[in-house]
Amino acid sequence: MARERIVVGIDVGTTKVCSLIAAISPEDQLEIIGAGITPARGLRRGVVVNVDEAAQAISASVHKAEQQSGFKIMSAFVGISGAHISSTNSHGVVAVRRSDNVVTEDDIDRALEAAKVVNMPQDREVIHVVPRHFVIDGQEGINNPAGMLGRRLEVETTVVTGTQTAIHNLSRCIEQVGVGIDALVIQPIAAGEAVLTTAEKDLGVALVDLGGGTSDVGVFVDGSVAYVGSVPVGGNHISNDIALGLRTPFTSADELKIRHGYALSEAIEEDSMIDVASFDAGDGTPISKRELSEIVEARLEETFDFVREQLGRAGFEESMPAGVVLVGGTAQLQGIRRLAAEVFGTPVRLGTPTGMFGLVESVSSPAYAASVGLLKWGLVQADDFGVGGNADGPVGRARDWLRSFFP
Ligand SMILES: Nc1ncnc2c1ncn2[C@@H]1O[C@H](COP(=O)(O)OP(=O)(O)OP(=O)(O)O)[C@@H](O)[C@H]1O
Ligand SMILES: [Mg+2]
Repeated sequence: MARERIVVGIDVGTTKVCSLIAAISPEDQLEIIGAGITPARGLRRGVVVNVDEAAQAISASVHKAEQQSGFKIMSAFVGISGAHISSTNSHGVVAVRRSDNVVTEDDIDRALEAAKVVNMPQDREVIHVVPRHFVIDGQEGINNPAGMLGRRLEVETTVVTGTQTAIHNLSRCIEQVGVGIDALVIQPIAAGEAVLTTAEKDLGVALVDLGGGTSDVGVFVDGSVAYVGSVPVGGNHISNDIALGLRTPFTSADELKIRHGYALSEAIEEDSMIDVASFDAGDGTPISKRELSEIVEARLEETFDFVREQLGRAGFEESMPAGVVLVGGTAQLQGIRRLAAEVFGTPVRLGTPTGMFGLVESVSSPAYAASVGLLKWGLVQADDFGVGGNADGPVGRARDWLRSFFP
């Protein structure tokens, strides 16, 4: 019997951990067979601040997915995010080795290795080297140079780095749970895999993952990621503002936001009130819906402004004719698309992961774009290696993440 091909993703967020186990069908479709979604602990703004607490939360999520699927997770693709993530563009050049001047995978690997050498502080580590395009003897715009003829191979890349501390702490949590790491994947890159179309990525699009503790950004141009960044503000900050402004406990504020929050306060009737009977909302006086929305709008607008400024500083503000795609739990706020369109001056849509089967109900929401994206990213890699056997396969196999980016 053919061994089942399995791919596993673990998305460790500030508010939730989502472990997904998927079987890969012969047609390369993902069938979700285990979904462990549990509350997160030990993270702040997307980054692990307490290894033991975070490991416990991850363990609970992993066990849930294992129980549901009947598989034991040996290794997984793990999402990483937070304000420590940054990207830079880098160039690599090598001489083609073969005497007949045919470009080989080895030349490509060496060019990418050369591009990986970037000036960065000692406390940072490279997470991805994404090839954007290749140049052979001055001829630009080549996507896959393998098999072509030339003497000099150049590659333009996006190099994504993060701080060693954040990478190390997340890795330790996963190891503590007894799971190997196939690769760390930047959240907005993963989410892009799940929700962006090829046309959007070719044209130029910004993906914004509005989570609980961070808002991660990825810009895709000419088919590949050109920039990633992050703003250390998310939906939890909106709930905090509500808790302070309306003097309610955080959990009620969060619930008020989810049930009644609206991103454009102007659209709310001034005398519209929320019945607080079902909330533990301070002293029990009814709450103005307009007031609630003003709080939501102020924080959200500020978050979008931060994102826009970050894109502007990096020179990508004009690089998104296909507009902005919003994902993450906070993207579900009512009215958010209009507010985002006002701030960015582009079309805005919500990104919901599609194109899988099995236990999809629990993950068919923008909140799980990055979680599902880890599986899709892993699927590409599994194809390259002809393996995906996390369930019974070898742990910690080659982390040849470079390859997975090739078309
Ligand atoms: N229907 C909803 N409407 C508005 N906000 C929502 C809704 N559902 C969830 N949220 C908010 O989404 C946030 C959680 O989003 P998400 O699950 O993407 O975060 P995370 O992945 O755990 O965190 P991060 O990616 O920032 O580390 C919370 O602030 C929550 O209040
Ligand atoms: Mg997230």
